[in-house]
Amino acid sequence: MLFKQQAWLRQKLLVLGSLAVGSLLYLVARVGSLDRLQPICPIEGRFGARGQAEFPLRALQFKRGLLHEFRKGNSSKEQVRLHDLVQQLPKAIIIGVRKGGTRALLEMLNLHPAVVKASQEIHFFDNDENYAKGIEWYRKKMPFSYPQQITIEKSPAYFITEEVPERIYKMNSSIKLLIIVREPTTRAISDYTQVLEGKERKNKTYYKFEKLAIDPNTCEVNTKYKAVRTSVYTKHLERWLKYFPIEQFHIVDGDRLITEPLPELQLVEKFLNLPPRISQYNLYFNATRGFYCLRFNIIFNKCLAGSKGRIHPEVDPSVITKLRKFFHPFNQKFYQITGRTLNWP
Ligand code: A3P
Repeated sequence: MLFKQQAWLRQKLLVLGSLAVGSLLYLVARVGSLDRLQPICPIEGRFGARGQAEFPLRALQFKRGLLHEFRKGNSSKEQVRLHDLVQQLPKAIIIGVRKGGTRALLEMLNLHPAVVKASQEIHFFDNDENYAKGIEWYRKKMPFSYPQQITIEKSPAYFITEEVPERIYKMNSSIKLLIIVREPTTRAISDYTQVLEGKERKNKTYYKFEKLAIDPNTCEVNTKYKAVRTSVYTKHLERWLKYFPIEQFHIVDGDRLITEPLPELQLVEKFLNLPPRISQYNLYFNATRGFYCLRFNIIFNKCLAGSKGRIHPEVDPSVITKLRKFFHPFNQKFYQITGRTLNWP
């Protein structure tokens, strides 16, 4: 009898204990959502006169939680109206370069409470079919945001597509343009690796990088190979400069964004006239991934998808040397035009 009573008591205590732990966890999770019930105040107001005021973490959580709900489509029209949410055309676009670190840059900028990202690549300006749908179609593709926030989208194909500068100019001639570049040979190999992976997924064979990058007849760099052409940054930039002054561009060092993201992000904050809000707290190195990952708050953090940070195939060193020699004069010109010298070989 006594044994039965003890077992019953133990069981009760176990249930009560689980309930207490459960409630505690629930309360911890609620802290963020309680904050979300208060309407957010205008961004400028929160930045203070000189933009120096501390941005509270809970406001950041508020933004994440609420906008996430809106994005998921769980919100009513009434909620959208109540919170003054709008779908705004981007005030800044990451126009490229493919494999430069465009996704990492967008995701990291999105840590800033005044920035809202368009999650998908929209391909409005480079795709004729999309472009024909008109600017309202484009705007409707944008996420909900507060009027004081800025929307950013990234479509790396913009940088190399002929028609894009004029089309973006027609939408907004004072838009800010972000270009993230990596050492051109590394970028070309990264580009190749992505295509190679796609072929392998479809059980197809593909050429070796060396075969594509070097013309077998001349033994010179194959300038017809797209991965090589994309890395001639200055050629593409020159086309853009027919429409936009250089002051409207900001060059992000994609190699540094991998190893030391914060200073690169701080330069972008400055370029976008945003008060500095992204801090070391928001970025932590994940040794398993070998990259920096993002920390939004005590609960929510994330690393980029596995398709970012692929292992590159080994490339014949003589081909690498040849490519680096080929890119060298274009790089010099790129430094000269942009005013940003990068330590490329
Ligand atoms: P690799 O896969 O060659 O390493 P994009 O987003 O423009 O396609 O660029 C992909 C590249 O972003 C990756 O190229 C990777 O090196 C780089 N990158 C920069 N920061 C990263 C991060 N924090 N996590 C993962 N990849 C990152």
